[in-house]
Amino acid sequence: MRAFTLLAIATCVAAHSDCNAVDASIVQHDGFPRGINETHNGIKIYVSKPEDASIRGKANAAKAIVYLTDVFGIELVQNRLLADSFARAGYLTVAPDLFNGSLATTDINVPGFDTAAFLAAHGPNVTDPIIAKTIDYLRTTLGIKKIGLTGYCFGGRYAFRFISAGKGGDAAFAAHPSLLENGEIEAIKGPAAVAAAETDGLMPPARRAEIEAELAKAGQAYQLSLYSGTQHGFGVRVNVTDPLQKFGKEGAFLQAVRWFDNFL
Ligand SMILES: *[C@@H]1O[C@H](CO)[C@@H](O)[C@H](O)[C@H]1NC(C)=O
Ligand SMILES: *[C@@H]1O[C@H](CO)[C@@H](O)[C@H](O)[C@H]1NC(C)=O
Ligand SMILES: *[C@@H]1O[C@H](CO)[C@@H](O)[C@H](O)[C@H]1NC(C)=O
Ligand SMILES: *[C@@H]1O[C@H](CO)[C@@H](O)[C@H](O)[C@H]1NC(C)=O
Repeated sequence: MRAFTLLAIATCVAAHSDCNAVDASIVQHDGFPRGINETHNGIKIYVSKPEDASIRGKANAAKAIVYLTDVFGIELVQNRLLADSFARAGYLTVAPDLFNGSLATTDINVPGFDTAAFLAAHGPNVTDPIIAKTIDYLRTTLGIKKIGLTGYCFGGRYAFRFISAGKGGDAAFAAHPSLLENGEIEAIKGPAAVAAAETDGLMPPARRAEIEAELAKAGQAYQLSLYSGTQHGFGVRVNVTDPLQKFGKEGAFLQAVRWFDNFL
């Protein structure tokens, strides 16, 4: 028995995989974020690190995750807590401040929100450089070799943009991405996964089917998973007393971790 256990541990360390398998208990829904804010290349970045002793953290030492928020930014505690959950899964996780304090007051699918004005102020011409500087910090200063991007709503599109040629990302995950264009899917040069909500005005069933078809055409590994009983935003903000919503948020997180564990 003991010999078997020791062998199992040795194999686990050697393979750098399936060590401390991650389950839903790793997702922290409330409480206090444990990461800190730093400034690099002029960008404010929320940084959450794996525990020093974590086997998964050691295995993933040359990898990092760039967490791209929804329109509520790193101000939203659930965004920082979810970044912490990725760190708990063994990945250095950094979430750049995409909005420099000029946050949206409601989500972009809520009627009455001046989506046009918000998006004009935060187009790719403004957002791409923030993410590029974050990736440059990881690669140049920290020597990170592999970068996964996880994005939510607004940020989901950018997870795709940064795995196109020369952008510096290696694998992408997006939950309920908004404004994702076909050209951005066609351009990917790495594996991409999507978690989709059942109810999402920004990604209704017809658009979801198109995205699926575009992913298939892109010629990269892909996954698109649909979570029943969920709404736009479910990857980050849910009613955790609703079993389907809780399952959806945790499922999307575990989908992302498994994606990076296998393809980053
Ligand atoms: C990090 O920045 C966010 C956004 O401004 C803020 O809400 C949070 O309190 C900061 N965290 C720390 C530890 O200072
Ligand atoms: C953020 O906004 C402040 C003014 O509020 C400005 O001085 C600073 O340059 C801005 N930072 C970025 C990265 O755009
Ligand atoms: C970004 O593009 C928008 C729309 O074309 C423009 O109004 C804005 O001034 C641009 N911002 C920067 C920083 O170039
Ligand atoms: C959260 O979900 C529970 C269980 O479905 C429900 O009873 C409750 O009303 C919901 N809360 C809100 C604020 O929607």
